[in-house]
Amino acid sequence: MAQIIDGKALSAAVKEEVKAEVLQLEARFGRRPCLVVIIVGENPASQVYVRNKVKAAEFTGIESRQVELPASVSEEELLETIKGLNDDPSVDGILVQLPLPKHIDEEKVIDAIAREKDVDGFHPGNVAGLWIGKDCIVPCTPAGVMRMIDSTGYDLNGKSAVVVGRSNIVGKPVAKLLLDRNATVTIAHSRTRDLAAVTREADVLVAAVGRPQMITGNMVKPGALVIDVGINRTDEGKLVGDVDYDSVFEVAGWITPVPGGVGPMTIAMLMKNTIHCFLSRVE
Ligand code: GUN
Repeated sequence: MAQIIDGKALSAAVKEEVKAEVLQLEARFGRRPCLVVIIVGENPASQVYVRNKVKAAEFTGIESRQVELPASVSEEELLETIKGLNDDPSVDGILVQLPLPKHIDEEKVIDAIAREKDVDGFHPGNVAGLWIGKDCIVPCTPAGVMRMIDSTGYDLNGKSAVVVGRSNIVGKPVAKLLLDRNATVTIAHSRTRDLAAVTREADVLVAAVGRPQMITGNMVKPGALVIDVGINRTDEGKLVGDVDYDSVFEVAGWITPVPGGVGPMTIAMLMKNTIHCFLSRVE
């Protein structure tokens, strides 16, 4: 039976840390960090995520502003909005909630955010920084995954880590962070031959594929540390991860639940990243 890594409790602890830091920053610099979240259109999932980000900012004392643009907004208008925020000295962090409507080029939008205000860590300058080991902003979900692993006291040195999923937001950066901690890392994906044979070798297994409950107990090494990044809604409306919780719970050494696992950690790490951006601008 696995021990549960409680993302809700851990994220609350991180947000308390941020709250204390914000007080110190305000005393020292005369203002609080400011995060601007841009939401385009009315995607219900995005609206929930953005609401939670704004709520977390309120809790920590980070100033937050929300910019709501209609789904019909042109790419040019969105780029202009970003440029205005880049040039606004009172803004420390800019986040454009993804996905964007089809007529807008996400890559162009990400490139347009000033690197030092890129709280998501998606800008090519930050991605390069991560891969060459230079100071950079680490994407929130991968940073949250690492914090969850560290909360267990698990020593990654020399361990076998398998990441299932190769997205720019999660799979690739989390693989690099595990590599930085001397794990031997495999990135598996939808074309991996005999995926179960690969995942069964993993001391640490990170599932980030976006396929509901695809990692089952028979794919997991006994005692493994399993991190579930997936958030999927079943036809019955239930929220489930990429991991089949019940069968994996019986085999794994540690497991993260969905909901209440990686999701809240992502938001807590966004608050940390906002402080990082603030500091890089004032110091
Ligand atoms: N949509 C889903 N996850 C994310 C994220 O981490 N950042 C942004 N900006 N949009 C997302």
